[in-house]
Amino acid sequence: MDKKIRASVPAKVILFGEHFVVYGKRALAAAINRRLAVEVSSREKRGYHVKIENIPTFGLELDLEARKGRDRKVLPYKDYSAASKALAYVKGSVEYLEERYGIGDEGVEIEIKSEIPLSAGLGSSAATCVATIAALKEYFGVKGDVERIRSDAHSVEKEVQGAASPIDTAISTYGGYVLVERNEVKRMQLAELNLIVGCVGSIPLSMDSTKASDLGLKTKTLVAGVKDKREIFTSIFDSIFDASDEITARAVRAIEDGDFVTLGALMNINHGLLDAIGVVPRRLSELAKVSQELGALGAKVTGAGGSDEMGGVGSVLVLPGEAGDSIQAAMKIAGALAMDVKTGGEGLKIET
Ligand code: PMV
Repeated sequence: MDKKIRASVPAKVILFGEHFVVYGKRALAAAINRRLAVEVSSREKRGYHVKIENIPTFGLELDLEARKGRDRKVLPYKDYSAASKALAYVKGSVEYLEERYGIGDEGVEIEIKSEIPLSAGLGSSAATCVATIAALKEYFGVKGDVERIRSDAHSVEKEVQGAASPIDTAISTYGGYVLVERNEVKRMQLAELNLIVGCVGSIPLSMDSTKASDLGLKTKTLVAGVKDKREIFTSIFDSIFDASDEITARAVRAIEDGDFVTLGALMNINHGLLDAIGVVPRRLSELAKVSQELGALGAKVTGAGGSDEMGGVGSVLVLPGEAGDSIQAAMKIAGALAMDVKTGGEGLKIET
């Protein structure tokens, strides 16, 4: 087969309601204009060869024998835990497609190019699953609609990481905005927002290397931590969860009304609730605080957040108002990756 398929998908940010969504509360997420692309083409040797390029901060290459039971030869280009995490989703997608749809392995090159930092709460795992599955299905001529790709990708994400809410795969597939309530995904038409994402991606040298290798499990660990605390402080946590639900509902109205002052204030309150449940590490807290001090309308942790034990790796989302330049400069001084982003971008795009 001498053809090349390219599937690309957007990154996501959770604007409101992360963690609380796990307990059935409303959450609002949006695609952003940072994309991940998977290119699938034929290769002469049998089996899958995976190449991951220009993911912010590292790259790697390996040979992957997809079928179960065979020896797998793994040649990491750089031994970095996040790299093996990205690969786990590619491997999971290939194995799933083999089992579910009987795709072959006559010699396939899978090349991934990404603008989405890893372990940052920006949906790189879901993006990898959706784009890999979409590209391979197209390459092997597997029939089905986009909704099927979304649910395939969600199955793989759950399989690889144990549990996953449907937010990330929905955004990667459909783009735009989604509101999630009691695990139901509803697509929303809302206006584009200009935001800044500040991403702490570097692991401090002082960090225990066994902890560094746990980073791939960051979301799982943080969700479990919230559950443990809730068992001790149940009624207090339930009030916090209800408050978050109300915040998300009000935020949707604020975006519809173009009321950015209210929207920003709701982001700040949401951030406070995330701090209260223990998912705001010092480095992310400082990024949010400095943004607020410099004049941001709102600043909050986005995604799973982080912990000091796991190096404070994670991201904040800022509604910058007039203070964008100084916020970006302050983030860079703090050692964070600062990205200007727009919400509501296009979903899955397949090119032959
Ligand atoms: O950081 P991320 O992109 O893995 O986001 C996790 C969001 C949570 O609400 C904490 C978990 C979930 O599955 O919804």
